Amino acid sequence: MKQVYRQIATTPKPFVKWAGGKRQLIPILNENLPKTFGTYYEPFLGGGALLFHILAERNAQKCSISDLNSDLVLTYTAIRNRIDELISSLKNHERNYQKDSKTYYYSIRESNPRSEIEKTSRLLFLNRTCFNGLYRVNSKGKFNVPLGSYTNPNIVNEENLRSVSAILQSSKVAIKCRDFESVLRDAKKGDLVYFDPPYQPVSETANFTSYTNKSFTYEDLIRLAELCMKLDSKGCKVLLSNSDSKEVAKIFSNKSWKINRIQANRSINSNSKKRTGHFELLIKNY
Ligand SMILES: C[S@@+](CC[C@H](N)C(=O)[O-])C[C@H]1O[C@@H](n2cnc3c(N)ncnc32)[C@H](O)[C@@H]1O
Repeated sequence: MKQVYRQIATTPKPFVKWAGGKRQLIPILNENLPKTFGTYYEPFLGGGALLFHILAERNAQKCSISDLNSDLVLTYTAIRNRIDELISSLKNHERNYQKDSKTYYYSIRESNPRSEIEKTSRLLFLNRTCFNGLYRVNSKGKFNVPLGSYTNPNIVNEENLRSVSAILQSSKVAIKCRDFESVLRDAKKGDLVYFDPPYQPVSETANFTSYTNKSFTYEDLIRLAELCMKLDSKGCKVLLSNSDSKEVAKIFSNKSWKINRIQANRSINSNSKKRTGHFELLIKNY
């Protein structure tokens, strides 16, 4: 660990604000990590809060990270491989935003750039300047969040992006765009798989599932539960976050699984009065 921090000024942190991000839950997730494990898998990567925590603690950790959102995965690879070009594109966004934030924001939201760098800097720019900093697309896959009201958003955040780039380059991290079920082919006995899927809505106001143009359905939850059982029989260590619902508790009622009800804070509800603490489940087989 010390070796890496001589080269990297700041501890790398999630570079996008992501709905369902686990930053606030890191202490409790950390307490629930197994002492030892082989490769670390995170198939619902999002902002990767637990990934960055693990990499900060163990820089030689072998990791395999993936997500179905291709724009997000492209962003991880661009940060790793083309950081200088990305930073200069973000600086360009910053300059234009400072001239006329509203017009510029909506012109970028409507744009559909082709190049890897421009696609990536568009995602980062919108994430920093949109309302509530969330990523949401409509059924056609089009980003549809309005402009947020920030006086001075940190659009470039160069120090953190460089730290993330350095840690992704120096560590053994494989980054893929794929459905979560593919993890079954790769994970071996003793590996750790952390699943943080989109949650099933527990109330009318909590139905946030649009990270991609395909919603995460109840059938996906059942597919995930079956996958957890298969990974368990393979001898993998499985940690799963999910909503505090009777269905989920019932699915994992078998004695292989330990269920912890933990307190969490969600900030994604558009009604700030409803952003109060609630509970979620943390389920593991070790
Ligand atoms: C709750 S978020 C993960 C948040 C993450 N733990 C963090 O700290 O930011 C769920 C992620 O699952 C991804 N996703 C949705 N359906 C998927 C699928 N079928 N396979 C893989 N990833 C999927 C979404 O794109 C989203 O990034």
